[in-house]
Amino acid sequence: MSSLIKMTLVLNLLHLLFSTASVRSNQSVLPIRSFKIGENATYDCIDINKQPGLGHHLLQNHTIQMKPSVSRHELKNHIENNKSYSKKIGCSDGTVPILRISNEYNTKAQFFAEKYLHPLTGDTPGVHIVGVRSRAGPYRGVEAWYNGYKLSIERNQASYSEMYIGSRLNNQVNFIQAGYIINPSFFGTDQLWTYGYFKGKDGKGCYNTACDGFIQVSRKIPIVQPININPGDPDWSRWSIHEDKVTGNWWLTQLIKNAPSVDIGYWPKELFNILNKSANIVGVGGIVRASQNSSPPMGNGNFPVGTRKNSAMFTNIEVLDSNYSSHKMDHFPTEIIVDSPQCYNIRIGKVQPFHRTRLGFFFNYGGPGGHSCGV
Ligand SMILES: *[C@@H]1O[C@H](CO)[C@@H](O)[C@H](O)[C@H]1NC(C)=O
Ligand SMILES: *[C@@H]1O[C@H](CO)[C@@H](O)[C@H](O)[C@H]1NC(C)=O
Ligand SMILES: *[C@@H]1O[C@H](CO)[C@@H](O)[C@H](O)[C@H]1NC(C)=O
Ligand SMILES: *[C@@H]1O[C@H](CO)[C@@H](O)[C@H](O)[C@H]1NC(C)=O
Ligand SMILES: *[C@@H]1O[C@H](CO)[C@@H](O)[C@H](O)[C@H]1NC(C)=O
Ligand SMILES: *[C@@H]1O[C@H](CO)[C@@H](O)[C@H](O)[C@H]1NC(C)=O
Repeated sequence: MSSLIKMTLVLNLLHLLFSTASVRSNQSVLPIRSFKIGENATYDCIDINKQPGLGHHLLQNHTIQMKPSVSRHELKNHIENNKSYSKKIGCSDGTVPILRISNEYNTKAQFFAEKYLHPLTGDTPGVHIVGVRSRAGPYRGVEAWYNGYKLSIERNQASYSEMYIGSRLNNQVNFIQAGYIINPSFFGTDQLWTYGYFKGKDGKGCYNTACDGFIQVSRKIPIVQPININPGDPDWSRWSIHEDKVTGNWWLTQLIKNAPSVDIGYWPKELFNILNKSANIVGVGGIVRASQNSSPPMGNGNFPVGTRKNSAMFTNIEVLDSNYSSHKMDHFPTEIIVDSPQCYNIRIGKVQPFHRTRLGFFFNYGGPGGHSCGV
């Protein structure tokens, strides 16, 4: 660890100790109810106006938006889905579930936010990316069905299935990302979680609600939650990140089959300097980080060969244009990214002649990783 990173870590730790202490000392911020849904997953119902996200210095004057001005409710027909989402959390009116975190986790949240592997630069050693990207914005949103799997991941490795939207201008990058994450050095084990991440104005970013920025609005579905599935079984969701027409905030919506869509919350437009109007890049796919010379599995660990069900998948991938109209992603110019084909690959779905595909623009992807994936 470089001394610069260590220094950052120490400063962040101090900052967090102080901010945690001040929050805890305020009686009115004590949780009204708590829900424990797993060994390391306890949620406190916090007053929505006192949630950690609002602590961001750019949000001093922010007024919470309780729901998006246009809800992305339409449910695309879809493959089988036996969703195991907990209906165990239900905070009362005016409160939202916030994952309870230890100071250790806090520090890690900051640390990983600093050295975050992100798809807009990509050339970080040990990071491998597979996916589809489009760099011909302006875009207002991106949506897709995709799945997460339980995988065996070593400490210091990480494997994500994610969707992102962002802007790049000169040396600056702003982006938002959401999906499934396995990251033992962050969560302690190789449990699969849902997550969201942003990188904003000052180059700073954050995961979930571990530090400030994201505004949780749903009383039932937190942005970060553990997914309990058996190895080999996919967990499907349709995720949407979209810019609000009226406020310019970036909403995260999750759709689960046979259930109403959930507007989980949003990243306020104040957090961004080059993502405060529209985005110029969208992408979907898998991203992994190697430990030493060993790369973890991506997707479900299988290469995209055989039937569609053999490997991880993104389907019905859609992008919102500058008028907020939704199009199949390949309506726009797209690039396919594969940086280590001996370890991870992609297979773009073909529309069967004479059959209308119900999968829209889709692909299979992933691979086993290993010791010879290159840098
Ligand atoms: C505690 O919360 C109340 C109500 O929002 C606020 O007026 C007060 O300044 C807070 N106190 C501290 C120490 O943050
Ligand atoms: C909040 O409003 C005050 C008063 O108008 C202003 O001085 C301050 O700069 C604003 N803060 C932000 C982050 O916009
Ligand atoms: C989904 O759940 C139903 C009812 O529990 C069960 O009959 C069905 O086999 C399950 N489907 C899959 C793909 O697991
Ligand atoms: C909870 O966290 C501890 C410490 O990181 C870890 O040892 C334990 O296995 C975790 N439990 C689960 C279910 O992830
Ligand atoms: C967006 O950010 C740029 C650069 O910081 C700023 O000049 C502009 O005023 C912002 N626009 C809005 C609508 O906030
Ligand atoms: C958006 O709508 C305007 C007015 O209807 C039209 O001129 C423009 O071409 C549309 N843009 C796109 C990207 O469809």
